[in-house]
Amino acid sequence: MGDVANGKKLFMRMCSMCHTVNPGGGNKMGPNLYGVTGRPSGTAPGFKFTEAMKNKGITWNEKTLDEYLEYPKQFIPGTRMVFNGIKKAEDRKDIIAYLYTLK
Ligand code: HEC
Repeated sequence: MGDVANGKKLFMRMCSMCHTVNPGGGNKMGPNLYGVTGRPSGTAPGFKFTEAMKNKGITWNEKTLDEYLEYPKQFIPGTRMVFNGIKKAEDRKDIIAYLYTLK
């Protein structure tokens, strides 16, 4: 398991401009991520996802999140998430550990 405190810090720096994390939180440029782990991709309520994300047909777990966050555009060609990816495996692990606390 990753370091949740560090993951939160990284999330605030890299993701929070586009994603809220509180229950029932609003959508910004990206969808609210409360409860994202264990959920099928592209199903956050009230957010207009790309076809690419909806058609990917995966469930968000440690493995799929790791692949997505490493290189979003390679894992889901056509995704609208404008993010280059996180090269450091440790950083991805910490952020994913933090995402698992959002439920
Ligand atoms: C510039 C804005 C932006 C940034 C920065 C960003 N995202 Fe996103 N994110 C999006 C958008 C837009 C989507 C929807 C993509 C689509 O529909 O193709 C998305 C989708 C997602 C999804 C899928 C949600 C679902 O319900 O299927 C996850 C998980 C996610 N982002 C995590 C992250 C994490 C973690 C970070 C930081 C490391 C991050 N994002 C940084 C805009 C952003």
